[in-house]
Amino acid sequence: EKGGYDHFMLKEIFEQPRSIADSMRGRVNSQEEILQLGGLRDYMDKLALAKRIIIVGCGTSWHAGLVAEYVFEELARIPVEVEYASEFRYRNPIIHADDFVIAISQSGETADTLAAIQLAKSKGATIFGVCNVVGSSIARETHAGAYTHAGPEIGVASTKAFTAQVTVLTQMAVAMAHKRGTITEELYRQLLLDLSAIPQKVEQVLKAADRIKEIAYIFTYARNFIYLGRGLNFPVALEGALKLKEISYIHAEGYPAAEMKHGPIALIDEDMPVVFIATKDSSYEKIVSNIQEVKARKGRVIAIVTEGDTLIPGMVDFVIEVPETHEVLIPLLSSIPLQLLSYYIAVMRGRNVDQPRNLAKSVTVE
Ligand code: M6R
Repeated sequence: EKGGYDHFMLKEIFEQPRSIADSMRGRVNSQEEILQLGGLRDYMDKLALAKRIIIVGCGTSWHAGLVAEYVFEELARIPVEVEYASEFRYRNPIIHADDFVIAISQSGETADTLAAIQLAKSKGATIFGVCNVVGSSIARETHAGAYTHAGPEIGVASTKAFTAQVTVLTQMAVAMAHKRGTITEELYRQLLLDLSAIPQKVEQVLKAADRIKEIAYIFTYARNFIYLGRGLNFPVALEGALKLKEISYIHAEGYPAAEMKHGPIALIDEDMPVVFIATKDSSYEKIVSNIQEVKARKGRVIAIVTEGDTLIPGMVDFVIEVPETHEVLIPLLSSIPLQLLSYYIAVMRGRNVDQPRNLAKSVTVE
């Protein structure tokens, strides 16, 4: 049932070319220039007119929400707030009837997320679910939704569900931007083409597995890790750190790279591994200087870079390449080497990767 893989997590990581394609199947058609999400059909006007979007979720699903915040704001120019469901539900949030609330949940059973949407619903907001498990409680409680179609995810650490969530949310943002006229027809066409090319590019990223395994071997006994990214790669840094914590029990922190000098830089010395997600995007030059700051303090740097980058490889200890794509789609590629890195480190430490201690696949208690 693990399809020849040692663990479900590894199988699910390697399934991503397929699961991402499934999350676009019947939705994105780049030849005919169509992007249609069935669940959104009756709500497209509402979404396009919404004054604001509120996204709620927990853990990895919250990280997918943070990625979506960037994409919705960048393409559709609509303000987005992303909230931990557990915080949202307990702080008497201001919710209006014209708010569009997106609840993200792999299991569709997370107690805090369910309670958050019940609260928003009672205030008259429209609730849209992005769930993986068909017929789950959250899927049933929402007004409409789009399933992620990643297929069953068994490993407690979410991998393919995350990339499927990001894929669905990105499709929503692109559809909305097109409807609102906030992107050009040319960009719309380009994004459809770039989305369609993602599965094959993920395939390419997965080819780096052996190299990532070698890097993991070197850092197996690290006690701490810092993950740094900017812009869309900031939530990727958070997600990379969460994956490592969950399954290897190594303490890891994700930070926006620019925040480093406001505190975490004090932690950097020759024993501190720092993972930079430093792809060629609008923050590239800024992150290059952040890398210099870490190297000047002898930090050991692993960098996720765009294929063909010739600058960063000369500055850091290890590089992992990902193919080029449109900036808003980068997290779909840059998150994958981090899944593999945490997987191999956890295996080398002898951890129970699929069922880490103290964790359950769905958190149905608050
Ligand atoms: O099923 P959900 O997406 O609602 O679950 C939310 C979190 O509990 C979940 O993402 C958790 O953080 C995972 N273990 C992450 O790998």
